[in-house]
Amino acid sequence: MFRRLDDAPAQRVEIELDGARVAVPAGISLAAALLWLGVAPYRITALGGAPRAPYCMMGVCFDCLAEIDGRSNRRACQVTVAAGMRVRRQLGTAAGDADET
Ligand code: FES
Repeated sequence: MFRRLDDAPAQRVEIELDGARVAVPAGISLAAALLWLGVAPYRITALGGAPRAPYCMMGVCFDCLAEIDGRSNRRACQVTVAAGMRVRRQLGTAAGDADET
């Protein structure tokens, strides 16, 4: 179920992160990809302004929320990276729709 990030697949896909193109290992979750990149802060809570990072990696804690392809509040640990995916970190209040909260 889990594997080490330093043992990530060699094949890469390009995604857009906050407007910059980055290459990440193919076939892993978006949350794992952002951890692999060392992205910090991962997100900032809307009310308290607290920094958050993926915690459970199985869809329970909601600490991995991100805007993915224009839809906010998506759990990045439940989404596999795909070439051309557009990702924005949620730093405070999320823009766009709220399909998961
Ligand atoms: S890391 Fe907990 S829901 Fe994604």
